[in-house]
Amino acid sequence: MTFRSLFRKKNIEQLMGEPHSEDHLYGGLKLERSLTLRDLTALGIAAIIGAGIFSTIGNASAAGGPAVSLLFIFTAIACAFSAMCYAQFASTIPVSGSAYTYAYASFGELVAWIIGWDLLMEYAIGNIAVAISWSDYFTSLLEGVGLHVPAYMTMDFLSAMRGHSEVSAMLASGTPMQDIPARLAAAYEAWATAPVLGPLHLVADLPALLITVLITYLVYRGIKESKQTANLLVLLKLIVILLVIAVGAFYVRPENWSPFAPNGVEGILKGVSAVFFAYIGFDAISTTAEEAKNPQRDLPRSMIYALIICTMLYVTIALVLTGMVSYKELAVGDPLAYVFDRLDLGFMAGIISVSAVIAMAGVLLVFQLGQPRIWMSMSRDGLLPKVFSRIHPKYHTPSFATIVAGFVVAVPALFMNLTEVTDLTSIGTLFAFVLVCAGILILDRDPAHRERAGFKVPYVSGRFLFPLILALVMLAIYLYRYFDLPEATRSAASSWELITASFFDFSGGWEVTQHKLPMIGFMLVCLALVYYTFKYNLSLIPVLGLVTNLYLMTELGITNWARFLIWLLLGLVVYFLYGRKHSRLNQSNA
Ligand code: ALA
Repeated sequence: MTFRSLFRKKNIEQLMGEPHSEDHLYGGLKLERSLTLRDLTALGIAAIIGAGIFSTIGNASAAGGPAVSLLFIFTAIACAFSAMCYAQFASTIPVSGSAYTYAYASFGELVAWIIGWDLLMEYAIGNIAVAISWSDYFTSLLEGVGLHVPAYMTMDFLSAMRGHSEVSAMLASGTPMQDIPARLAAAYEAWATAPVLGPLHLVADLPALLITVLITYLVYRGIKESKQTANLLVLLKLIVILLVIAVGAFYVRPENWSPFAPNGVEGILKGVSAVFFAYIGFDAISTTAEEAKNPQRDLPRSMIYALIICTMLYVTIALVLTGMVSYKELAVGDPLAYVFDRLDLGFMAGIISVSAVIAMAGVLLVFQLGQPRIWMSMSRDGLLPKVFSRIHPKYHTPSFATIVAGFVVAVPALFMNLTEVTDLTSIGTLFAFVLVCAGILILDRDPAHRERAGFKVPYVSGRFLFPLILALVMLAIYLYRYFDLPEATRSAASSWELITASFFDFSGGWEVTQHKLPMIGFMLVCLALVYYTFKYNLSLIPVLGLVTNLYLMTELGITNWARFLIWLLLGLVVYFLYGRKHSRLNQSNA
């Protein structure tokens, strides 16, 4: 086995022919083509609108203030660049593996495996986050109609354990129970009242398990059933979101928008993970390529339509939300329901809670649909055992992979904590977006590939424009920091040093320096890109996609980077133990 074999690539003819070639079909069965442009766009919206806008936007708005709407716009631009790259790939290679398949064609097997492994973070871990959030909304809905479910059945193990020790410490230091925040009090109660088995407190999030099982069953039953459900869920959630905007607009008090960015750029950037999480999902449409009636034409369109519709709704909602109450009040898990409740519009809060439950079920549905299809593609290539590409004789769905995906989400959802899984999902998805943009840069260098694409990312030469844009952004950052300095310091000759010092000052030791590593890495990548863009006259849009998504990644903090790198290392171990040897390319070379 040579080093070069790590980068063995599949050519596009191979990839296109495979889903239908007899030796690739498990028992001669195929997926069923039934998705139209409208269905695909609905699947995109079903995947995008969910826990992000109903839940995580709350903390992002509390940190960034009304200016979080600008973060929604910036993130949408970064997503739009990658959506265009996804669209070009999907129209060139319309098979189910999404970014995994695209990486196989552009970077070769090792990177393809890494992406396939990384997509587990987007789909499976993302769905753990959504299932947990679904459970929160569902439980409060039940409470709303007078049904109380014991706290130990609706909370994850980690939150209960941590909450219990935090509250115990607060009580010991004399804080009265009534002053303890509601969420912590619930965690305390869950731990204290849970049945005990030896040393183990039986605390688990049962609604999260329940919804995952239900959705897995639906996805297992067939693409038609899944599509009909997704269409219905999308219709309902769009009606409710429009209702929130229409009613909320009457309660906007413009004074709440001032100050617009109370905590400056730093405050806004605290919301990166949450806001990006809200956009994740349009790319999942590409996993249904083998079930679309006209994938080459409809996949690109549906991804872009879904993204445009959701961006318009998100920016408007962010403005309405922060206009209705002071941003300071929004650090809650159910911000949309909260603001209406707060303004004594209880009926609206009720409608929103019901629709949040519906919306999140939609996200779960599309991700549970996407994950098995990626595994199916990996299994066809020999990187996963063959059983993962088994297709159900009656339902025409990847049956085994669908059930495994159900387990992979349902079991951790019983125990895991929301914030940690949201962050991991965001970093994993951003990484996939970065690689898809880079993949287009590689594929576009071969004119034959560009010819073949049904949708092409518009070509604008990046040779001079990219360095110019980078220089303008740096100037803007410099000016922002300059005018942020106190008046007296500003006039001092050393203001340049003051501004740059924070980047290049390593005197704080490892504790401080480690947090600068992602940004330093980002700057080095930018320098390398300036060189390559100039040398090879690279296309501006994929370059900007790569840079903007990588930038968002750098904002996710060193702890997330460390977890992400450990996850990738684990993936490499699995590849070298299994995939490398069993790869079909390895066997065909042999
Ligand atoms: N965008 C999806 C959501 O917000 C993941 O739930």
